[in-house]
Parts: sequence; C-alpha cells; structure tokens
Amino acid sequence: MEINGRTRTCGLIGHPVEHTLSPVIHNTLAGLMGHNIVYLPFHVESGRVQDAVKGADALGLLGLNVTVPYKSEVIGCLEEIDPLARKIGAVNTLVRTEGGYKGYNTDMEGLYRAMTSEKIKIAGEQMILLGAGGAARAVAYLCALKGAERIYMLNRTLDKAQEVAAEVNHGVDKEVVFPMLLSEYGSIPNGDYLAIQGTSVGLAPHVEETVISDRAFYEKIHTGFDLIYNPWETKFMQYVRECGGRAYNGLKMLLYQGIIAYELWNKVSVSEENAQIVYERLKAYFTQKG
Ligand code: ATR
Repeated sequence: MEINGRTRTCGLIGHPVEHTLSPVIHNTLAGLMGHNIVYLPFHVESGRVQDAVKGADALGLLGLNVTVPYKSEVIGCLEEIDPLARKIGAVNTLVRTEGGYKGYNTDMEGLYRAMTSEKIKIAGEQMILLGAGGAARAVAYLCALKGAERIYMLNRTLDKAQEVAAEVNHGVDKEVVFPMLLSEYGSIPNGDYLAIQGTSVGLAPHVEETVISDRAFYEKIHTGFDLIYNPWETKFMQYVRECGGRAYNGLKMLLYQGIIAYELWNKVSVSEENAQIVYERLKAYFTQKG
C-alpha cells in the first residue's frame, strides 16, 4: 500500500506492545478493503497515557486500541464512553469524534462473535468461568448479558470472585454469577458445562500449566474456550478434548475484537470472507513456528 498525504493513522497504546498481532489484523484489512490507513504500535510509558491520548487527538489519529495495563486508566482521558464499556470498566478501542475520543470495549463483542462463529451458544447454558481478573470479569458480564443460566466463577482468591459476582449480578439485576474458590471445583454440581478459561495460567512459556488438572473436572465440560491463544493448544484445551469435549483457543476473539474496532473506525462492515483471510494470516504465526 502506498502511504501518501491522505493516509490516516490508527494504532495501539500499551506497555509493552512489542509482541502485538494487531498490526497484522488492521494492515491486512486495509489492504483487502482498499482503505488508505496504517496501523502502528505505540509504546507508552506508565504515567503518559493522558499525554498519549491528547497527542493522538492533536495529530488527528483516526482511532486507537488500548492494551495492558491501560484499559481502565484510559477511561479518564475520554470525551465519551459506550455504556457497555462503562459497565465492564475497561476500554480497548478509542474512536475519534468531534470533541475527542469515544471509548468502546470490543473484546467482549469480539468474544461473542468468536463464539458465534464456532456455533457456541451462551443463552441458557450452565457455565464455569475460571478466573476473576480483568478478562474474566468482562466475560462474566458478557455471558450474564447474553442469557447464561448460571455461571460458577472459580478463582484462587475468593474475595475477588465475590466482588465481581456481586457487581455483575447487580448490573444484570439477576443472580447469575456464583463465586467459588478454585480449589472447591469438586463441589460444582454434575452437569454439562460450557467452560471459559480466563486466567493467565498456561500462557507461553508456561505451557504445561493449568489451574485444574483433575480429569473429573473436565468430564463435566462439553465445550472449553481458553482466552489464551499462545500456545495454540493449552493444557486446559488438551484436557477438555481428552475428556470428550470441544476446545477452542482465543485467537478468534483477538481477530474479532480487531475487526469490530476496524469497523468502528472506518464505518464499514467486514465480510466473513475477509475475516477468514486475516484469521489464516494470524494462525500462521502460531502453527508455522511449530
Ligand atoms: P487479566 O487482565 O488477564 O484478566 P489479571 O486481572 O491479572 O489479568 O487476572 C489474572 C487472573 O488469573 C486472576 O483470576 C488470577 O487469580 P487471582 O485473582 O487469585 O490472582 C489468575 N491467576 C494468575 N495466576 C494464577 C495461578 N498461579 N493460579 C491460579 N490463578 C491464577
């Protein structure tokens, strides 16, 4: 693609940003769809987020993604915030408006689109959610909003799960999330569960780790979705499969959160055909390095 006087810039702010795959998503889409935009990573030191957003605004950047550790902090730098992002308390996408940036959370909608594309249903499901950190909290919100019947939220630190459960249940005005201590997984009633792995355990290079290794736990899972995508198959996914369930990694969530951001910035709709092309390109980063 030719960069010229009309090229618009989008980017990512975070700390660190060196390993991001977002440029692959956005620059591939720009090429496929013929948009004159470029997407760049911007490493922002702690304490400089406000300056970064102000600077981006002054430079006329079309949009920004926000990653760890700034997804909450950036909320204080916005002109406007989408109601769902406010509820979740985390923003990963900024869209330029007249007076400044509007913040959205496309991670959750991205997870939803990823699950929909794999034909994984949330409405009416009995669920197990591992973790109660930033990612798991947003997943709990999404699943409660999309009509999950019951979500057992298991966490190493019980009060964090209790806090998140109280907040989500209050937000959806229904008792959906039930907090539990991770070590008490044995007391989850027998059933057929959709499980989401939302802790950081099992992430490369600690690929042999998983929060629960007891097979009896995995026997209860019909579908397991790990938010991690590096490694391509986590221990959690392996155990789910070995016990007869279907297992998915988080790469499609990464893909769709990016696609939704791209759609917001460019006011377009990305076709499934183009989504698939980008997905194959992302997948190659994991499957080719062996
Ligand atoms: P993220 O933004 O990725 O969600 P986070 O907010 O730091 O990151 O949350 C990390 C999650 O992984 C938490 O649920 C954390 O459990 P605690 O709340 O008890 O800290 C979980 N986690 C991290 N390391 C863990 C470990 N070794 N065993 C069990 N859970 C772990």
